[in-house]
Amino acid sequence: MKNIKAIIFDAYGTLFDVHSAAEKCKDKIGDKWEGFANFWRNTQLEYTWLRSLMKRHKDFWQVTEDSLDKSMKVFNIDSSMKNELLNLYKVLSPFKEVPETLKILKEKKFKLAVLSNGTPSLLNELVKSNDLDDLFDDLFSIEEVGIYKPDSKVYDIPIKKYKIEKNEVAFLSANTWDVSGGGNYGFNSIWVNRNNSIFDNLDYKPKKEIRNLNELIKLIKEEHD
Ligand code: LAC
Repeated sequence: MKNIKAIIFDAYGTLFDVHSAAEKCKDKIGDKWEGFANFWRNTQLEYTWLRSLMKRHKDFWQVTEDSLDKSMKVFNIDSSMKNELLNLYKVLSPFKEVPETLKILKEKKFKLAVLSNGTPSLLNELVKSNDLDDLFDDLFSIEEVGIYKPDSKVYDIPIKKYKIEKNEVAFLSANTWDVSGGGNYGFNSIWVNRNNSIFDNLDYKPKKEIRNLNELIKLIKEEHD
């Protein structure tokens, strides 16, 4: 992992906590909030993969709403909560170490970008609402290629834009399948294993595994100094 020129981050689950929308409503939802949050996230991802396979693209905001509708029915959550949950999804909180880590990396002059399933306006609002907008060089959205991760067209986006080699990219994701997608494409994929999980069997083992983004600073120091 020498000669890294760009550090590229997945957004949902890696920089931003996808469960924070349901968590902020836990008083109203009750104890089932966590099961509901997991189900919503898994359904949302399944819909992205299925729509890519069916060649019936809908953007991530529509997929988020469609998966929420199903999840609310499965978990018997009152439909009056729908707008509140959707609005909270637009302003998800970052994991706590994210702002500081990005600032340190920016000072080290790496190109910093997001590469995400999110629409351009969702990604803009996420970074703006969390005061992170000055830290990124680019927010790359899959809407540019009209197909979801892990299609290789998605991972091509930053390579084409920056005119760099695939192995000059450090790609960070907390989503194991996205680590495999980026790694099989040719990135140095680093798994942000926040919950002590087990990795997938998808023809790729992460170049490095870290528990949170703080550990990225140490890793970069070891590799570059
Ligand atoms: C994203 C999803 C995979 O941000 O978390 O692309």
